[in-house]
Amino acid sequence: MENLISLVNKLQRACTALGDHGEESALPTLWDSLPAIAVVGGQSSGKSSVLESIVGKDFLPRGSGIVTRRPLVLQLHKIDEGREYAEFLHLPRKRFTDFALVRKEISDETDRVTGRTKQVSTVPIHLSIYSPNVVNLTLIDLPGLTKVAVEGQPDSVVADIEHMVRSFIEKPNCIILAISPANQDLATSDAIRISREVDPKGERTFGVLTKIDLMDKGTDAVDILEGKAYRLQFPWVGVVNRSQADINKSVDMIAARRREREYFANSPEYKHLAHRMGSEHLGKILSKHLETVIKSRIPGLQSLISKSIAELEAELSRLGKPVAADAGGKLYMIMEICRVFDQIYKEHLDGVRPGGDKI
Ligand code: GDP
Ligand code: NA
Ligand code: MG
Repeated sequence: MENLISLVNKLQRACTALGDHGEESALPTLWDSLPAIAVVGGQSSGKSSVLESIVGKDFLPRGSGIVTRRPLVLQLHKIDEGREYAEFLHLPRKRFTDFALVRKEISDETDRVTGRTKQVSTVPIHLSIYSPNVVNLTLIDLPGLTKVAVEGQPDSVVADIEHMVRSFIEKPNCIILAISPANQDLATSDAIRISREVDPKGERTFGVLTKIDLMDKGTDAVDILEGKAYRLQFPWVGVVNRSQADINKSVDMIAARRREREYFANSPEYKHLAHRMGSEHLGKILSKHLETVIKSRIPGLQSLISKSIAELEAELSRLGKPVAADAGGKLYMIMEICRVFDQIYKEHLDGVRPGGDKI
């Protein structure tokens, strides 16, 4: 199954690369049909922090205020061994091994499009991380939903962000990570509001409660985490991310995770829920869910992919030889990937005949 997910990751990358050429083909449809996970919520609810702890790396710009100003499409690729590294689509073949530089490049690339203002852009940044310590996932970090424009922003910013976020999460194949901070009333949660709009039955929404450590003394989040306050199809997951003080002191991810585990295990309120709390658990259930989704979509994906192969073949024969060697190479790459997918699909069909239920 692991292979299937990484194949889907490759397909997404190939589609993105091809999209650069503005080719007219079925590929955008193919891209749209592949599952991804998007993080939504109010400004400073902890979206970027949650993504970071799923990845287990410090690499995203975080902080109070409007820090994330362009969507970030992040693909995690599990590799068996070797040193982890990152690559941006806009900087092909440049390998980043220093994740502080990844963070800097995200900021710089944001500024390149938006200027050093508080403007927001809907043009995504594409980043891939290769590491032995991740699960195969595609994640999308989004600017936070806000209620008012701040200085330097046009009045339209509130509606612009809302529109952009909706455009990502309304896709039926998008798994929504709805981030709500525990130190605010859940009834005012932007994440819940917008995810309910696009996914009324909560079939693809995971509720994540952040900042549990910042709740007023004498209050706790047990009702929410047990699904009594607001019911979602999937159980809520509570997390404790690093605070701003931790970030300033450069508390590392391993220490933060250990502290998070201890927090849930040692607090009398949450002890009984500890086995399904925390960032590591969240990463695991997301990966598992993604597998289920991909499995359930294989027949649909398959028909799309067959169509794409036919179109690509037609396109290639029409072209005779690729006009641009580069574009031709990408088309071949996609075809190759499609063929491998085809193969796995057939093996899957063999596997599910009586007696087998595995890929
Ligand atoms: P985003 O704007 O939703 O992406 O939120 P960020 O991840 O940038 O976090 C905003 C601020 O809240 C940062 O200063 C984080 O350190 C802090 N923060 C996020 N999650 C938690 C948490 O669970 N506990 C504490 N104490 N602080 C958090
Ligand atoms: Na923020
Ligand atoms: Mg952010």
